[in-house]
Amino acid sequence: MNLNQARERANKLKDLINDYRYHYHVLNESIISDEAADSLKHELAQLEEQYPELITPDSPTQRVAGAVLPGFSEVRHTTRMLSLNDVFSEEEVEAWVKRIEKAAPDFKKEYFADIKMDGLACALIYNDGLLERGVTRGDGYVGEDITLNVRTMDSIPLSLRAATKYQSFLKGRTEVRGEIVMYKADFERLNEERQKLGQPLFANPRNTAAGTIRQLDPGLVASRPLHFRAYDLLRDNQAEVATNSFAYQVLADLGFSTNHAAKLLNSVSQIMDFVNGWEHKRKNLEFNTDGIVVKLNDRQLFDKLGVAGKAPRGAIAFKYAAEQATTIVRDIFVSIGRTGTATPVAVLEPVVIAGSTVQMATLHNEAEIKRKDIRIGDSVIVHKAGDIIPEVVEPLVKLRTGKERVFEMPSLCPICGSKLVKLKAEDAAWRCPNPNCPSRTWKQIQHYASKEALDIEGLGEKNIIALLDKGLIKDPADIYSLKTEQVMSLERFASVSASKLIEAISTKVHPSLSRFLYGLGIRHIGAQTAIDLANHFKTFEAIMDATVEDLTNVEGVGEVVAEAVVEYFAEPVNRRLLEKFKHLGVWPEPVKQSQAGKLNGMNFVITGTLEGLSREAAADKIRALGGRFQTSIAKDTDYLVIGNNPGTSKVEQARKLGTNAIDERALSQLLD
Ligand code: IVH
Repeated sequence: MNLNQARERANKLKDLINDYRYHYHVLNESIISDEAADSLKHELAQLEEQYPELITPDSPTQRVAGAVLPGFSEVRHTTRMLSLNDVFSEEEVEAWVKRIEKAAPDFKKEYFADIKMDGLACALIYNDGLLERGVTRGDGYVGEDITLNVRTMDSIPLSLRAATKYQSFLKGRTEVRGEIVMYKADFERLNEERQKLGQPLFANPRNTAAGTIRQLDPGLVASRPLHFRAYDLLRDNQAEVATNSFAYQVLADLGFSTNHAAKLLNSVSQIMDFVNGWEHKRKNLEFNTDGIVVKLNDRQLFDKLGVAGKAPRGAIAFKYAAEQATTIVRDIFVSIGRTGTATPVAVLEPVVIAGSTVQMATLHNEAEIKRKDIRIGDSVIVHKAGDIIPEVVEPLVKLRTGKERVFEMPSLCPICGSKLVKLKAEDAAWRCPNPNCPSRTWKQIQHYASKEALDIEGLGEKNIIALLDKGLIKDPADIYSLKTEQVMSLERFASVSASKLIEAISTKVHPSLSRFLYGLGIRHIGAQTAIDLANHFKTFEAIMDATVEDLTNVEGVGEVVAEAVVEYFAEPVNRRLLEKFKHLGVWPEPVKQSQAGKLNGMNFVITGTLEGLSREAAADKIRALGGRFQTSIAKDTDYLVIGNNPGTSKVEQARKLGTNAIDERALSQLLD
């Protein structure tokens, strides 16, 4: 990008970020996620780094958020309210510790970690034990006087607890800082009520909390459930509060709620354990969090190290990987899936989201692209969470240059040239109708060999392509006719790996009925539906002969699924494939009469590791007997199986819901 292009882009980024900030801070509404906004800010900062002449005094990278709203009076903070620098990795935590070591070589390795609450910061000033004032963070120097509003909040004591062990805090000025949050459950309830009343919905708990606290009507504040959790304690003589662990002790004794999770730690590895432990458990917290605050426990050293920019040197915020980022759509192509579905896919300028590089994202279907108006060349927000396929959320229309191109869905399959069709008028997706389309064949074989289906080791994506290219296989049945010598002739294989593959295939001649059924890749038949069908019909022949009505008799199977099954078996190409399997002696085992359905309708969750069998194997057995394997505890969970090192949140959740907790021995008895 040259300077002129960079300037044009930077100006658009500035406008968009300013717009976002105005909506966020003044109107209390979110037009895009914070993560997407951060991503834009990051891009702007990078441009400014490359071309420092682009930095203007009004650039969002140079600004402090939070102007004081008209209607509240201003209060100057006696001690500035700081932000924290973000870190994302263990290396960055180590670097932080090294920096402190440089300034204070023998510092005591004591860190105080707490959950970073996603709410709004608030300072409470008590004089001789009485609540005198509540103030927002504002720009860190000057905040808004929200005394009347905080006085309505039950979690904020109007006077410090007179019976406290720490009587000195009842004299003179005591400042308590903390976060005002709205619980996730309260937020959901509030929005449900608003929906019923036809009122506009709130964007997220933090905005709602912020919007509420800045209401000029304390009556309205009192009607909304807000909670204050304390994290800091200030006295004129700071020596009275030597450590953060002591501060938390005093705060609780003075009548404030603090996070029970907060913990004193002694090393970077303990910090990482704390951070990693909460990464998953955090979804069970009452409020949202996007990270962990880590401070030096020694507050004198913290003060001595001072401030760099807006953040203290003695503390950091470890942020969990964001699930959204912004990037550019370089191109759009159409991918043909194993059932022929034509899915438009965006080719992206590579971007790191949640720790991995994302280069492609699904656009779902033609209608979705039109609805969102996503164009080639657009800057877009991309979302990726856990194992889900990354998707394009929306284009940032304001960043358009005019050079973007509208995507036209091709009328022909880009792989085999067949005319794309829609099976029904209301179908959103186009499909390639050619059952022999190479793209479909490749994905079918890949699916057949995948972990949840036949689980054939050594038959991954690339090996399948190599075998297809050589013309050694044309469909999933062909893999059973492969000879070691043929496989060896491929560049990718040596004699050992070739024999291993042939051996792996030979062990999958009589797969379980459910895995085989799932492996065929029938539309709408996921792993669980395949298990349900197998347990109901017992033999493959019975499923082949089933009518739509027979199929819908199976619990959880609706018309759409039933029709897909009947259609599959009616298709001559599929019939031929099945004949081929049979001819090669490949056929699924029937479900044993005595065993089937023993655990019908029972739901299981496993926490911790089992000694006798892997989690996968246990799940397989549970499913084979008709039970369901769940990943988290819900109201309908029947058994929580507790292995070694169980997760505390699952055990706690089971206790709350009254779920049966059993050990591995009891599980074995159920499975026998
Ligand atoms: S300690 C020097 N502890 O995070 C600041 N802050 O970026 C020390 N926050 O605006 C703050 N939960 O409002 C601390 N457990 C926690 C926190 C927390 C949320 C907020 C705080 C501040 C921001 C810092």
